[in-house]
Amino acid sequence: MKIELLNNKVFFENNGLKKEIHPFWLRERVNGEDFVDQGTQQRLFDPTKLKKDIEIENLNLSDEFLEVSFTDGTNTKLAIKSILKEFSNTNNAKFIEKVEWDSSLKDLNHFEFRDNIFEEKDMYKALIDFYKFGFVIFKKVPTQNNFITKFANSIGNIRRTNFGEYFNVKSKPNPNDLAYTSLPLAPHTDNPYRNPVPCIQILHCIKNDVTGGLSTLVDGYTVTKKLKKDFPKYYKILTEIKVRFQFIDKSVILENWAEMIQLDENKRFKQVRFSPRLDFVPLLEKEKLELYYSARNKISELYNSNKYRIEFKLLPGDLLIMDNYRLLHGRTSFNLNDGERFLQGCYIDYDSTEGKLNHLARKFNL
Ligand SMILES: [Fe+2]
Repeated sequence: MKIELLNNKVFFENNGLKKEIHPFWLRERVNGEDFVDQGTQQRLFDPTKLKKDIEIENLNLSDEFLEVSFTDGTNTKLAIKSILKEFSNTNNAKFIEKVEWDSSLKDLNHFEFRDNIFEEKDMYKALIDFYKFGFVIFKKVPTQNNFITKFANSIGNIRRTNFGEYFNVKSKPNPNDLAYTSLPLAPHTDNPYRNPVPCIQILHCIKNDVTGGLSTLVDGYTVTKKLKKDFPKYYKILTEIKVRFQFIDKSVILENWAEMIQLDENKRFKQVRFSPRLDFVPLLEKEKLELYYSARNKISELYNSNKYRIEFKLLPGDLLIMDNYRLLHGRTSFNLNDGERFLQGCYIDYDSTEGKLNHLARKFNL
């Protein structure tokens, strides 16, 4: 990648492709202290109030800087490094490559908790692992009640839901969700009926001395790739049909219509939703429904297959952070007569982990 000048124009060259940089793009980046607040890097001027036809009057390019003066009398000195950074995707969480995994994954991503970890390089590494694998586990997190909110708020901000700021995963009488029983929970994503769906779930183990009660994780990204390769018709229909997910209790009815496999605008993997106890497909033509039901059965078979699932026991002090748009989670059944199983959970959104990641990258110059 490099910057070149030609006839008072600035060009950006990348892999043999040369494109002119719009003069206004450079004008918007005029960065002297009269133009940009040096602390927040927010503009002190409103670019929508400037004339759009501002031209470049003079240019000077050195190894490190591009100096530009414009026809409206302003001039600026921009670091080449910072211009190039705008064209590269390094340190952007959205571009961290996902690592596909299945039941053969043995080396779970463990980090040891300490009080100041949120400002340390290890936190940066943990977040990178989170984006690569869709989960990360912290060990030795203090098991005090509600420590989870302190933990979550040290990364970003808790996403509160109608279950409250955080929730207790403990068997209880008259549960409003199967999570609060001792029954096994098949792999699922949480809260597909919310709009937007909470991005990240955090689970903190306070006590777990029951037999069974293992946590399970499945990589929805890996399974989606498998489905696309081996069962393209099923993949297609699950990426096209929006189904209704719903949650009903005494005080609220939540509904969201979405695809089981949601793609982004470039037709790439964005999110999976899977919770076959609360999804309702619309009344489509019989043939289409026939295909949809076969596709749902197949993806359910894959999600529930031993080939893709990892199982591990969360021990007191373990804290699991998992991507609810990518992973499915569940648990094996347990016997309440043996002891107690008590987890606390909460949600945060991607702006928390991305914001923290960017901050730590800046701090450690990574
Ligand atoms: Fe869940």
